[in-house]
Amino acid sequence: LPNAIYGPERMNSRGHNLMIDAERSALMSKISEFDNTLWRAYPLLAGKPEASGQTMEVKSPYDQSLAVGQVDFATAEQCRKALEIADSSFTEWYQTPVSQRAAVLERMADLLEDNEGELIALCTREAGKTLQDGIDEVREAVDFCRFYAREARHHFTSSIKLPGPTGESNELYYEGRGVFLCISPWNFPLAIFLGQIAAALVAGNTVLAKPAETTSLIAARAVELFYQAGMPAKVLQLLPGEGRVVGGALVPDPRISGIAFTGSTETARVINRQLADREGPIATFIAETGGQNAMVVDSTALPEQVVTDVIHSAFASAGQRCSALRVLCVQDDIGDRVVELIKGAMEELRVGNPEDLSTDVGPVIDAKARDGLLAYVAKQTQAGKLIHQMTLPEACASGTFVPPTVLSIGSIAELGREQFGPVLHVLRYKAKELDTVLDAINGTGYGLTLGVHTRNEATAAYIEKRVRVGNCYINRNQIGAVVGVQPFGGRGLSGTGPKAGGPNYVLRFATERTRTINT
Ligand code: SER
Repeated sequence: LPNAIYGPERMNSRGHNLMIDAERSALMSKISEFDNTLWRAYPLLAGKPEASGQTMEVKSPYDQSLAVGQVDFATAEQCRKALEIADSSFTEWYQTPVSQRAAVLERMADLLEDNEGELIALCTREAGKTLQDGIDEVREAVDFCRFYAREARHHFTSSIKLPGPTGESNELYYEGRGVFLCISPWNFPLAIFLGQIAAALVAGNTVLAKPAETTSLIAARAVELFYQAGMPAKVLQLLPGEGRVVGGALVPDPRISGIAFTGSTETARVINRQLADREGPIATFIAETGGQNAMVVDSTALPEQVVTDVIHSAFASAGQRCSALRVLCVQDDIGDRVVELIKGAMEELRVGNPEDLSTDVGPVIDAKARDGLLAYVAKQTQAGKLIHQMTLPEACASGTFVPPTVLSIGSIAELGREQFGPVLHVLRYKAKELDTVLDAINGTGYGLTLGVHTRNEATAAYIEKRVRVGNCYINRNQIGAVVGVQPFGGRGLSGTGPKAGGPNYVLRFATERTRTINT
């Protein structure tokens, strides 16, 4: 089949160029309209906000005294009610022509662009994202909506004709599976949240969306925009709340036909176990989980380029990307030079208020995340592993900040659990140890991103083939996969596939049917 995404019309959203004065000030004024906004979110059942009495205050990660809004978490009873509605709306939705379903996603993409000021404000205030990350987030969400709309039109509009004997017609076509539960993370509170639900909806499923506890406000705005775009209210419902309550009420229920989950490997295992133990049909499970991502740098690499890419891969988004670089494996011959350059480059980073245009590194998501990261860094420092750490400016005292830190490590096997923040490990290896390093990277069991820096093409090809990952980046940074350009997702402990923003994603949300007619 020709693939829709590689055609000449493929077009990603262009985002903003903040170097252009007029473009920057127009965007900043759109964002500042929301300076004094306090957002309010509720479970949305058949489109109606329903108070639950379990109200949480949302504070800014940048300054814990700044209120962002309030959210009511869903009760188990509300989850069951939403499931009832989603289940009874499925028949009508999966028979709705794909052109109509895709058109809703395309209108949604336009609405996201129209509302970017508010959405970027929410990214910075609720999730502590920098402005640049906020812009990129909206852009990725727009891309997901347009891309999955196109993919669905491509795959669902007509059936695939199959051969057969004379007098018989055979065809295969795709349709929705049923009710999908979409569980999304806080690190891409708009893009991943919408990516999952857009794919599930356009494939003909009804959706129960459960955003991360910490980023319910932006999720609620996104669902409201989806309603405005024409998504039937019974087809998409929002269940903000605790994983234990929402997941506990829904995962064991046989009316859930599929789950799309992005988050930790541990939580994916819990869900998988609950699905295995339940009665009824076997559900589809799509999991995108963590990584212990490495970059391998040999002695032919260009140190200045390496350092630019290391700094971006390890510290952008405060290291809170599942693609982020966690362990730099650098050949001894250029190790000193690379480490000295990294230290210098770190001192150029600005850590601080995510709403300042000049900020490179914002806070981590909450106090629990900060405390865990700081405790890990303190333990490693005590063990004599500290290579370099930035000093936080005083203004960071009221937020949940972690200073960008570089630690040494003797072997990859010493990496414990993934440190989801601005903490980079450096491993030095000798040329003859390359295979040992590559085996150790595979030995983590994760397989998400891999960076390679070398000016030797044969080495690049060798490393790429040896290491089992989902996304391999050669002589560039290893974050920021673009929809339809670098389909994103890992293997092993990093996830089940299919790749988000790739040609097979929408299909995993669908079931296949064969029609045979005796003509
Ligand atoms: N898709 C993101 C990236 O590539 C990570 O989730 O950085």
